[in-house]
Amino acid sequence: MKQSTNQFLKPITTKVNSFGNIEIGGCDLISLADKYETPLYVIDETTLRTICNDYKQAFSKYPKTHIMYASKALCTSAIAKIIDSEGLGFDTVSGGEIYTVYKAGANMSKVLFNGNNKSYDELELVLDLNVGRISVDNFFELSLLNEIAQSKNKIADILLRITPGIECHTHEYIQTGHLDSKFGFDLTQIDSAVELIQNEYKNLKLHGLHAHIGSQIFETSIFPDEIEIMAKEIARLDAKFGIKLNEINIGGGLGVKYTDKDAPPSTYEIGEIIINKLNDVIKRYNIEPPELFLEPGRSIISTSGVTLYTIGSSKQVPKGKKYVSIDGGMADNPRPSLYQAEYYAEIANKKDTNESETVTIAGRFCESGDILINSIDLPMLDEGDIICVYNTGAYNYSMASNYNRVQKPAMVLVNNGQSEIIIQRETLEDIIAHDIIPERLKK
Ligand code: LLP
Repeated sequence: MKQSTNQFLKPITTKVNSFGNIEIGGCDLISLADKYETPLYVIDETTLRTICNDYKQAFSKYPKTHIMYASKALCTSAIAKIIDSEGLGFDTVSGGEIYTVYKAGANMSKVLFNGNNKSYDELELVLDLNVGRISVDNFFELSLLNEIAQSKNKIADILLRITPGIECHTHEYIQTGHLDSKFGFDLTQIDSAVELIQNEYKNLKLHGLHAHIGSQIFETSIFPDEIEIMAKEIARLDAKFGIKLNEINIGGGLGVKYTDKDAPPSTYEIGEIIINKLNDVIKRYNIEPPELFLEPGRSIISTSGVTLYTIGSSKQVPKGKKYVSIDGGMADNPRPSLYQAEYYAEIANKKDTNESETVTIAGRFCESGDILINSIDLPMLDEGDIICVYNTGAYNYSMASNYNRVQKPAMVLVNNGQSEIIIQRETLEDIIAHDIIPERLKK
């Protein structure tokens, strides 16, 4: 079966150029590091647009499919523009994400708002901006949203987020569909929610069900299991309440290849499995073919991103490890310290050297746990070498912090030999921009 871009370790435009340097999107990584300094996030537009197409093609046989990019993976104004231009919608989880896609000119009817504790202000914002769908997570939110919609004389278009009770084999911090998850209505609570919507909450219109099982998933069986449960519920709710639900949102979760050990399925493989399963449940439960929503985040943006760092000091522990330190780490990529995530890297300026050594890539932040890569074979390293860490497009910048009051890196978009800044590097002034010294302390 055809490969899709989430199955690649590196952006699809990666090659070694005539100087022996790695180039991505037609841009020499050493020139990028010189021009923009490091750490530097680099996003390859071709890879990003290719995966969007992989998704569209994979689901083209089911025309009622809507791909909603989970913007929590990486949400910036330029990325939102690209995703919108590819015709995808957005799954958002905060006022900040909604505002970003709105200001980027996205079609707000193709935006969905998720979250287990949405604020009053956020719910007002989504109603004011006519966001397409709100996935309601719990009883408190049902009542709050109805009240806000009523005060605005509007009808809120909603889905119910359910917990289907499916476990997937991924890191426990990124599992969400199991029974004791903090997200969504338990299956035993759905009927009460539907009754409330039918009888009391007149400003809510229920369109369908929503679930999300987990992230960095390689098991293809998860999605059909989820569809089975949702279709069964839709048929049951119709029989019991006479309510016609015609939307199924199965969340995101498709994995990517961080290292050679990872073998994620392709969009084409899951597309076929999902569509076959849908056709099967439509027949078996005798339901109307539903609109199908998917919310991929990581698998859309991860492979297109790499991070460049400059190699600095090193330390050989006598009879132990060799630590090599870089100018970034857990504040720009918290995933290794948070989830023991593994990454693959290469030295951008030493593609043609043979001699190698095994090193530990250490971050610059003041924690022993700030280790980006535990053990990797790299060419003999010198201070000033540029290391390129692959697959950092998702959940790196979006989870970045200013720990140790270090400025967040810049981000550039590369395409056809051109590089353009899409996030400016923070300055020292940015670092203190929100600080206030009370008058009495100034004396
Ligand atoms: N939809 C919902 C409701 C979600 O909660 C998530 C992710 C997604 C879609 C997108 O999932 P994806 O396709 O990206 O796997 N920070 C963690 C990942 C947390 C994912 C949270 N929810 C990490 O760095 O691995």
